Amino acid sequence: MEYRNLGQSGLQVSSVGLGCNNFGMLMNQQQTNSVVASALDEGITLFDTADIYGGKGKSETQLGKALGKGRNRAIIATKFGNPMGDGPYETGASRHHIMRSVEASLMRLGTDYIDLYQIHKPDPATPIEETLRAMDDLVREGKVRYIGCSNFTGWELVEAQWTSKSCGRSCFVSAQNRYSLLSRDIEQDLIPAAEKYGVGILPFFPLESGLLTGKYKLDQAPKKGTRWHAWKDRGPMADAFWSQDRFKQVDALQTLCDQYEHTLLELAFGWLLNSSCVSSVIAGATKPAQVRGNVKAAGFSPEADEMVEIDKITGPHRPG
Ligand SMILES: NC(=O)c1ccc[n+]([C@@H]2O[C@H](COP(=O)([O-])OP(=O)(O)OC[C@H]3O[C@@H](n4cnc5c(N)ncnc54)[C@H](OP(=O)(O)O)[C@@H]3O)[C@@H](O)[C@H]2O)c1
Repeated sequence: MEYRNLGQSGLQVSSVGLGCNNFGMLMNQQQTNSVVASALDEGITLFDTADIYGGKGKSETQLGKALGKGRNRAIIATKFGNPMGDGPYETGASRHHIMRSVEASLMRLGTDYIDLYQIHKPDPATPIEETLRAMDDLVREGKVRYIGCSNFTGWELVEAQWTSKSCGRSCFVSAQNRYSLLSRDIEQDLIPAAEKYGVGILPFFPLESGLLTGKYKLDQAPKKGTRWHAWKDRGPMADAFWSQDRFKQVDALQTLCDQYEHTLLELAFGWLLNSSCVSSVIAGATKPAQVRGNVKAAGFSPEADEMVEIDKITGPHRPG
């Protein structure tokens, strides 16, 4: 396993992380235990969850139990800010909500500190100074070790970094955004800002919910036991993944992989990890074999000529 610094921080994280949003949603405690155990065996240290995952904290609870004594080998990343209930006090990034959220997450995780505490999405109703001061207070209290953001745009990240710096408070060390071979929008705006300010990228949906494993075909029903079988009617998320254009790109990438004699899964990991700004690929996994497969796939690195061919299919989106 390769370990990378999380942005410019001194915190090292495994280049393959484990996304934990399946826990409590598609996976029970026993399934969670076996996936977490195999992740630790493979040298994975970064476990990414959120208060909202699995439905009101189930993912955090299952992760905490599954880690057990393995907690001291783990870097736990969690998040606050998405609605945990009705009403004005169950959501957002106010000091009031942050202070309540952290206590609830610590309790569910069964730990007395969170390694990386992330704001799940920008909260336009709260001044960023208030959010950052509250997060920094948690660092000073020892409840949180590092702080990060998620779903921020480039300007929102720059505003946050400047605000923290100007009042001598902790800065974000990570930015978690959707990023994969098929979803490259952040190359335009967020990645240049993150590189400038030394913020590590944690790409979410790195496998496009399984599309980049090559196991789905547009004209075939998803196999039993897969995420897209469970989401039979494809639900509200369908448009973000299940489109003719996306499958066309997947097919073109698969042809390229055949030509260069490696798998699509290897390309999904190797392409992301080819960027030095990416600190860890936090793919979700529902079985130990998937965890092992993902760690193996991350050992692949595409050659420069293949990178050019990839850009012809899915990008590039970088300015200039
Ligand atoms: N910050 C945010 O707003 C945000 C939003 C979404 C996600 N996230 C984070 O990002 C993480 C990753 O996203 P994700 O888990 O939703 O999607 P993903 O990593 O793109 O895809 C995960 C799915 O791919 C399949 N898979 C994984 N490894 C495989 C393998 N080796 N072979 C075959 N299939 C494999 C599994 O599907 P099956 O279920 O079919 O086994 C798994 O559930 C989440 O867990 C969460 O921590 C953050």
